[in-house]
Amino acid sequence: MINSITLERLVEYGIQAPSGHNTQPWLFSLKEGEIRIYPDFDRAMPVVDSDHHELFISLGCAAENIAIAATSMGLRPRITVMRSKEDRDYISVALKRDSTIEVDELVDAIKIRQTRRNKYEDKEVPQEELQALENSFDFRGVEVLTFVGKREMKEIKPFILSASSKQFEDRKFIEELLQWTRFSDQNAKLEGDGLRAKCLGLPSMPSFVGTTLMKHLISAKSEARRWSQLIDASAGLMLFAVTHNNITHWVRLGRAFQRFALTATKLGISHAHVNMPCEEPKIREALAYRLNLVGLTPLMLIRFGYSDTMPYSERRDVEEVIEKA
Ligand SMILES: Cc1cc2nc3c(=O)[nH]c(=O)nc-3n(C[C@H](O)[C@H](O)[C@H](O)COP(=O)(O)O)c2cc1C
Repeated sequence: MINSITLERLVEYGIQAPSGHNTQPWLFSLKEGEIRIYPDFDRAMPVVDSDHHELFISLGCAAENIAIAATSMGLRPRITVMRSKEDRDYISVALKRDSTIEVDELVDAIKIRQTRRNKYEDKEVPQEELQALENSFDFRGVEVLTFVGKREMKEIKPFILSASSKQFEDRKFIEELLQWTRFSDQNAKLEGDGLRAKCLGLPSMPSFVGTTLMKHLISAKSEARRWSQLIDASAGLMLFAVTHNNITHWVRLGRAFQRFALTATKLGISHAHVNMPCEEPKIREALAYRLNLVGLTPLMLIRFGYSDTMPYSERRDVEEVIEKA
């Protein structure tokens, strides 16, 4: 018997996971010896993620956090992607008491991990740490490609810049981004979700100021310039790809990415998303062709390097995301 307090504590770890635009697109259902994670499509991002792959990646991140934390409570987790009788896809995290289970040391990093969107220092990541990042996960059907140094990153940079420009020229993309941006700290706290201005490197400001700024001062050109500088300052890029473009593999990619992010946190390495070339279908195809990725779909691009910590993003309360029985 695993009591509901333990299950709720595990959900608390789950919701520390990253999610696209900090939408937190998850609902948890507590069962006997099991936590189910359901997608909350009311929190989907129809413009930037029309097939929901990023949504399921986010759920995979939450599932991995729960599984890692479970080991520290003497519980052995088993994660499976399931479909309910009502045709609802969900992730089952089944939990069994096991006094022999080894604690996954990544647990300590769950509550301190963060996406760091600042500019990184001009400093290389040592080879053994790069290897630790690449070996941080082992899931069938999920691959990672590493690009280090300016010469290797140069190959990917044009895809990043053209995808960024395409997005910033799209009114619907900007509207969706604005919908999830919390310009004032007060608003971010109140909503408990979304992209807090301070996490984007901006000061807290009234919503109307932020909206005007975003609509009139930020252009496709200025964004491309900003991204160019951020990429040049990074130690490297990691591209996550799947062998099958389906829910099971999106969830696995989320689990893999979460292990990567927690390992980076433990090593003092910053990371942030540069997903734009994976979000634009035509550019994604062109990128896969350029890199000769036969049979692989690239779905997530991450920059990494060294930088200071940043303000943390908000989360909704655990009670808000647990479905009532
Ligand atoms: C699937 C996925 C896609 C994401 N895409 C982006 C992105 O394109 N740009 C970005 O800056 N952050 C991206 N993020 C990071 C989230 O915005 C971030 O996780 C969220 O704001 C919560 O902040 P935290 O990671 O610091 O807890 C993504 C995260 C996930 C899991």
